[in-house]
Amino acid sequence: MADHLSENAALIAREETAALVARTPGSRALHERASKHLPYGVASTFHANDPYPIYLERGQGAHVWDVDGTEYLDFHGGFGVNVVGHAHPKVVEAIERAARTGTHFATTTPTTVALAEELCRRFHLDTVRFANSGTEATMDAIRIARAATGRDQVLKIEGSYHGHHDTVMFSVVPNADAMGGRDQPASTPMSKGIPAVLADYTHVVPFNDVEALDRMLTDRGSEIACLIMEPVMMNIGVVVPQPGYLEAARDLCTRHGVVLIFDEVKSGATIAAGGAIERFGVQPHLACFAKAIGGGTPIGAFGGDASVMEVIEHGAAQQGTFNGNPLVAAAGLAALTEVLTPDAYSHLAALGSRLADGCAKAIAEHGVPAHTADLGAKGCVSYRPEPLHNYRDFLETRTEFYDASYPWIVNRGVFMTPGDEEQWTISVQHTDDDIDRYVDAFAAFAAAVS
Ligand SMILES: Cc1ncc(COP(=O)(O)O)c(C=O)c1O
Repeated sequence: MADHLSENAALIAREETAALVARTPGSRALHERASKHLPYGVASTFHANDPYPIYLERGQGAHVWDVDGTEYLDFHGGFGVNVVGHAHPKVVEAIERAARTGTHFATTTPTTVALAEELCRRFHLDTVRFANSGTEATMDAIRIARAATGRDQVLKIEGSYHGHHDTVMFSVVPNADAMGGRDQPASTPMSKGIPAVLADYTHVVPFNDVEALDRMLTDRGSEIACLIMEPVMMNIGVVVPQPGYLEAARDLCTRHGVVLIFDEVKSGATIAAGGAIERFGVQPHLACFAKAIGGGTPIGAFGGDASVMEVIEHGAAQQGTFNGNPLVAAAGLAALTEVLTPDAYSHLAALGSRLADGCAKAIAEHGVPAHTADLGAKGCVSYRPEPLHNYRDFLETRTEFYDASYPWIVNRGVFMTPGDEEQWTISVQHTDDDIDRYVDAFAAFAAAVS
C-alpha cells in the first residue's frame, strides 16, 4: 500500500508541477529576469523554490495575486507574519498616519513606548527591547544571556531554526549521517561560512527529552549561558511540548543558573494572544518575538526578567538604527491592540479547528499516512501517521507527499508555503468559506493520492 501511494504521489507531483509551470509564465519570466541580479532570483534563499517561485504582486484581506494575475487564498501568510491579513484597514490607517508624520527619527517615540507596554502586558515581561527581525531578536537575547551569566556556551534544540546568525546555525536540519547519537546529538553547521570553532560553543539536545537536558546540564551546566528553544517547534511542521516538558526545562535551567529563552518568533501572538507562554502556561526568563507582532512590517523584540535585562544598562550592547522605528511600531501597535483582540483569537481558533478537522477527516477517509496539528492561527498536515515528538521523528515524514500536495493545492487556488517544514497561517480576515476551499482542495488530493 505504501508503494502504491508513493507511486501516486510521484505521478501527481510530476503532473501538477507541469500544470503549475503551464499557468505561471509571468513568474517564469520574472524569475529569469531576477536571476540576473539576485542569486536564485530571490531576495532571501527562503523565497526560492523549484522550478521557480510564484512571484506575488499584491494582497487584500485573505487573498493574494501573483504576477500572472491569478488570485489565491493566502495560507502562506508571509511565513507566519500575516495574522492580520493583507491591507487590514486599521493597520493601513496606522501606517498612513506614520508615513505622513515621519517614518524615521532614530529616537524613541511615544508609539514605540506604547508597543513596549503592550508586549510586556501580553507576554508578562518586565522589560523589552526592539530589533528588526527574528534573527536580531535571538542574537541579542543570547548576547544578553551571556552577559548576565558570564558564560559563553549556548544550548539549543536539535532541528530548531532561530534565524541566520552564526551561534544558532547549528543542527537546524542535520543530515541523518552527521547528526550523531539520539541522546547526544552532534553540533553540525547549517551553512558554509560559519567558523568551525563555533561548534564548540553551541550544544544540542533533543526536544521533549527531560533526561537528555538533565544530563547535559549536569555535565556542562556551569558553562552554559542559555537554553534557546521554540516552546512549540514550528520549523519541522508543528511539534507540541509533552505535558511537563517546558516546566521541567524551566526548573532545570533555573537550578543551573541557565537563562531559558523561548523563541516565540512564530508562536507569539499567533497560537494565543500571549503566545506559547499563555497557551502552555510556562514563563521563560527571556522571550523573543518577531513576525506577527509587526502587523506585516519588519520587526523583532525580546524581553523578560528585569534581573537579566538589566545588563543592557551595565555594559551589554543592544542597539540598532531602526530599532523601534515609528512606522513599524505604529503597524505593530494597531495590529496588537486594534485587530488581534480576544474576539479575533476566538475566530482564529474556530477557523484553525475547522481546517485541521476537515483535513483530518479526509486523511482518515482515504488512508493517507498523515496527521494534523491545530494551534489557533497555526497548524499543518504532517505526512506521518503519528504526531512528532522531536526532529528525528520529522525525518520519518514522507516527503513525496509534500512534493505532490504543494503544487496540487496551489494549482487549486490555495497559496501555501513550499517545503515540508512550514505550516499554514490563518488571518482574522479569513472566513469559513475560505477554510472550506482549502479543505476541499486537500480532500481532493487525499482522494487522488490514495
Ligand atoms: C522560530 C524562529 N526564530 C527566528 C526566526 C528568524 O526570523 P527572521 O526571519 O525574521 O530573521 C524564524 C524565521 O522563520 C523562526 O521561525
